[in-house]
Amino acid sequence: MKNPNISQLADPTQYTAHFSYATKSSKRSAGDEARVSRGARELYCDGVAVERIAEATGTPVYVYSRSSIEEAYQRLDRAFGSYPHAICYALKANANSAILRMMLKLGSSFDIVSGGELDHLRHVGASGGRIVFSGVGKTREEIREGMRYRGRKTAESGILLFNVESEEELGVLVEEAERHVKAGGKRVGAAIRVNPDIFAGGHPHIATGYHEHKFGLAWAEARRLYLAHKDSRWIAWRGISSHIGSQIVALEPFGAACEQLALYVRELRKTGIQFDYLDMGGGIGIRYTNEEVFDVRRYARALVGAVRSLGCKLLIEPGRVIIGPAGVLLTRVLYVKRNGGKRFVIVDAAMNDLIRPSLYSAIHPITKAARGPGDARTIEHVDVVGPVCESGDFLARDWPLPEVKAGDLLVVWAVGAYGYVLASNYNSRLRAPEVLVEGRKFRVIRRRENFEDLVQGESGARDHR
Ligand SMILES: Cc1ncc(COP(=O)(O)O)c(C=O)c1O
Repeated sequence: MKNPNISQLADPTQYTAHFSYATKSSKRSAGDEARVSRGARELYCDGVAVERIAEATGTPVYVYSRSSIEEAYQRLDRAFGSYPHAICYALKANANSAILRMMLKLGSSFDIVSGGELDHLRHVGASGGRIVFSGVGKTREEIREGMRYRGRKTAESGILLFNVESEEELGVLVEEAERHVKAGGKRVGAAIRVNPDIFAGGHPHIATGYHEHKFGLAWAEARRLYLAHKDSRWIAWRGISSHIGSQIVALEPFGAACEQLALYVRELRKTGIQFDYLDMGGGIGIRYTNEEVFDVRRYARALVGAVRSLGCKLLIEPGRVIIGPAGVLLTRVLYVKRNGGKRFVIVDAAMNDLIRPSLYSAIHPITKAARGPGDARTIEHVDVVGPVCESGDFLARDWPLPEVKAGDLLVVWAVGAYGYVLASNYNSRLRAPEVLVEGRKFRVIRRRENFEDLVQGESGARDHR
């Protein structure tokens, strides 16, 4: 079956800022000529031809545009205007330290879901007051680490908020908070992640805010816990949180969830529980192919409209919308073959580099890095597959591509979020490097792994070398 709606697919450069096809006369320097045939247009990430990056680092390689990330952050930040808010960038989307340092410079706060992510923030020197700890299964040790966390140049330990997701987790948090306070620390800031029972659509694996999902607590349960710990000497209720899912392209579920949370806040206020933060989680969808996405100004308006009368500070935890469109994966064609009636393009990136197509049936457009004038005449629907020994190893199925041959460079679009972070060493493959483009320059922000990296940590791995 042909992929629906994508034969007429728009050119991703039309909706992915900071990437554009240009001819040599407009952007390239004289030395570039050999790479691209006459009349061809090649892909640039800002001021750098992606082919140049591929030649320097080899393939596969992840490439991110710094300006794209900065603009996405600023657009979202500006959308809230003067209403008190904090953007807590969700590390789970992409946790490279260079990206985190950028976010720090931009003034971002952070949303984490593990001790590892907390440690990343320690490395880049984020202050604890900028950290929200989400996640359905925080361990006791992770909770302790959160309480002990001390950012650079901060005297105080701890983080802004633990978003609690179960009564048992709250029990552990309270026990640890008691030790913390008895050892001289301040009361520990907490919120409950409430499940607003809103179905936001999207792929079932990334929808989270419906009653049948594992995340959060139903309101009746959350309310009981808020009241039970109202006068705690160890924890302080600082807010309420929710996260209704990811890659949500409709605005309504956000507005509805926020209004629902505002009702809960009002109800708690009547019982004497007052707090400052309403955390709406992440989930803003992006355009991968033909999705119609909303303007973030409308999103901000909907949230602010729901909470303005409460005066709560809004927290949001976006990941994908900030980093997703900023990244592409470059991969070279290894072989082209036909099996039965089907054409396969075998490339050097695989499901271990980008698992979203096989895990979520996600569609990431794929184009050639160099486009020739006659390309349109040779388009054929192909499967773009990797070298991993799994039939599920594909980057795209029935994807319209012009004729390609071994050695051609292909571009897999919108992979900045949930790309590298989900990469693995399956089939003992080396994880790809990551490159950050800054204007006309680029730098490697994570080197390619080597074979030594693969056996590091295995006992006895070096015995016979
Ligand atoms: C609690 C929480 N916050 C934030 C995010 C980030 O979501 P997104 O990248 O869709 O903005 C997620 C992702 O699933 C999440 O689970």
